[in-house]
Amino acid sequence: MIKDKKIVIGVTGGIAAYKAAELVRILVKGGASVRVAMTSNAVKFVAPLTFETLSGNRVVWDMFDPFTEPIGHITWGQEADLLIIAPATSNFIAKMAHGTADDFLTSMVLASTAKILVCPAMNTQMYKNAATQENIRLISGRGCFVMKPGEGELACHTEGPGRLPEPEEIAELAGNLLTEKDLDGLKVVVTAGPTQEPVDPVRYITNRSSGKMGYAIARAATARGAAVKLISGPVALKPPAGIDFHQVKTAEEMRKAALAEAGQADVIIKAAAVSDYRPGETALQKIKKDEGSFTLNMIKNPDILAELGALKKNDGFILVGFAAETESLTANAEEKLRKKNLDMIVANDVSREDSGFDAENNKVQIIYRDGKVEDLPLMPKESLADQLLDRIMVLRKK
Ligand code: PMT
Repeated sequence: MIKDKKIVIGVTGGIAAYKAAELVRILVKGGASVRVAMTSNAVKFVAPLTFETLSGNRVVWDMFDPFTEPIGHITWGQEADLLIIAPATSNFIAKMAHGTADDFLTSMVLASTAKILVCPAMNTQMYKNAATQENIRLISGRGCFVMKPGEGELACHTEGPGRLPEPEEIAELAGNLLTEKDLDGLKVVVTAGPTQEPVDPVRYITNRSSGKMGYAIARAATARGAAVKLISGPVALKPPAGIDFHQVKTAEEMRKAALAEAGQADVIIKAAAVSDYRPGETALQKIKKDEGSFTLNMIKNPDILAELGALKKNDGFILVGFAAETESLTANAEEKLRKKNLDMIVANDVSREDSGFDAENNKVQIIYRDGKVEDLPLMPKESLADQLLDRIMVLRKK
């Protein structure tokens, strides 16, 4: 979680410096207090004013600027929760590896007591060079977190590793580094998104699930230290970094993937909106338009959650379902909890426009085995993900 955290971003002199502006924007939006320090080469790529405007704080690039706090090169890195060097050039990484302190940023890094996240960005050969690799090994061995650069076409017209990871990925990793690892050692399986049930080669039956809720849970559990497997139906979201990702399309594929995890997982959370029915037959050729109406014979899909519930033993394993309801929210959800042998069910009133399917927020009730019902306020799916995990941890301790 980056909210209320103090983050210093060190920008060094590479073309990817422009991407650091977006990183500052994302971190500030997430509630972090951000300060930016630049090298004298970095200011040739991006004007400090850009970072000052985005962070709302004065940017430092000259150690001897009379406006710089007297010992800012010491205090900045000691007050911060996290330093992020993005982009980190090969030169800067070499300076870090050898303890050089010849400007504000290098001195701050050397004097820092904060966690340090280094995001290399450079020409592919510079990155692959044994000297750079040795320097990365050195700083990693001293506790710095070094991200793998992205691959693709670089500004110097070569292809290969060396691209600055996307700002969203850096921000996500920063959040992970700043989050307490209370789920360390747990295996958490999350299902997300809709299923697609094919009618013919070009048509399918699906629903409006975007996957946002399930992906938020997978991200939160990863940040809190769990080993996460995300089984996802087709969605437009990028799989979160650092998870074991399993792409599926149909309910039957999701069933196979989920049942394979039973017995190994400590927690399974079924946020997916599984199609209850599928076409009895999938036409091999595109179904032609004809005169009159068209009837599709639908057959029942297996209830994955109920199958997982039937396998449940009394061994600390926690099974959580979601219920999407448009009426009698509590009663219908309670019935699903009982029938499917769940520990907890998250009841969504999906008739609301501001919550549920494809919304940024969710307004839910949490219902427990003992009949207790908790009404939670409308909140972002990210916050709800953490609230659910908090409650799962309490259940595990019972
Ligand atoms: O993906 P988003 O756009 O973020 O939206 C989130 C959500 C609304 C999809 C999600 O929060 C949610 O409510 N998921 C469950 C939707 C659903 O299918 O509800 P249900 O009441 O039909 O199913 C109850 C539970 O049984 C669910 O956990 C479901 O995964 C499971 N199920 C249902 C049918 C089936 N054949 N197999 C199952 O495992």
